[in-house]
Amino acid sequence: MSSYNKLNSDFDTQLHQKRELVNNTINQLLASLPMDHEMKEVLSYTLQSPGKCIRSVLALWCCELVSGQINRNAEIAAAAIEMVHTYSLVHDDLPAMDDDDLRRGRLTCHKAFDEATAILAGDALLTLAFEILANEIDEPAVAVRLIRELADAAGPAGMIAGQLADLKAENTAGTKEILEYIHKNKTAKMFRCAAAMGAICGGANQQQLSNLCEYGVKIGLGFQIADDILDVSASSEQLGKTAGKDEKAGKATYPTVVGMEKSIQLAKKLADEAVVVLKPFGEKADTLRQLASALPKRTK
Ligand code: IPE
Ligand code: IPE
Ligand code: MG
Ligand code: MG
Ligand code: MG
Repeated sequence: MSSYNKLNSDFDTQLHQKRELVNNTINQLLASLPMDHEMKEVLSYTLQSPGKCIRSVLALWCCELVSGQINRNAEIAAAAIEMVHTYSLVHDDLPAMDDDDLRRGRLTCHKAFDEATAILAGDALLTLAFEILANEIDEPAVAVRLIRELADAAGPAGMIAGQLADLKAENTAGTKEILEYIHKNKTAKMFRCAAAMGAICGGANQQQLSNLCEYGVKIGLGFQIADDILDVSASSEQLGKTAGKDEKAGKATYPTVVGMEKSIQLAKKLADEAVVVLKPFGEKADTLRQLASALPKRTK
């Protein structure tokens, strides 16, 4: 079933095909990488669970936009992004963080296995992402640029900073400024990174790279606002993760800080702004335009 409302069927097909490509690349890498048998089973459980693959598909689309095609480097970059994203979810769900039982319609990693295994699986996914970039990208200079982007986005000046601020803001009043800091760091930077990595693999020039990074930040921020909205408005069944958990955990979210109506408007505004940033690309960027408009309407 589609994750989006009112989807253009061509966009839906494209998304499906690209998601397949990401999953095939990951499966092929998992099969070829040397690793402990038990760990392979855990990693397969987390990586093969049905995620939306938005960040990794975004990387593929950005490569396609600037170069007209998807190359092997972009496939590797997309797999690396999906590994880091999946690690972030495995750790986000741990009892010491959000303490969740359900993820992608299945038991969370620490529930299906145990806590220590989930911690190690997250560590393994993060490490593997950098290993595949170092080993599989065909040009050392491109590999270094991709590694730098991913380290910046996922590291202590990026996602880690956002996750830490998210936890510290629990049961506090929260302000719009704090919330923007949290959402930009924990989520928007990985979207920016996905766009940048895809663009780099496609040989983007500075202007193209900068526009796609801006696009990534805007849809990433909108994506997290929509995630906060869905936590209130959707069911656990629909989301494949526990609904209503933000309120229970006393999280600072857009609906709690600015209200539901304003949150919905803001997510739409960010999508509109993201579309404007794509102007120089002309109609070649239609898929990215459709992605920006689809994200605030998503239902999971
Ligand atoms: C969940 O991301 C974490 C957030 C940043 C909101 P996704 O909603 O992309 O999760 P999957 O990969 O589809 O499960
Ligand atoms: C998680 O945000 C962001 C990450 C970097 C993993 P949330 O905690 O809101 O994500 P969900 O709702 O558990 O997917
Ligand atoms: Mg969290
Ligand atoms: Mg969470
Ligand atoms: Mg959430």
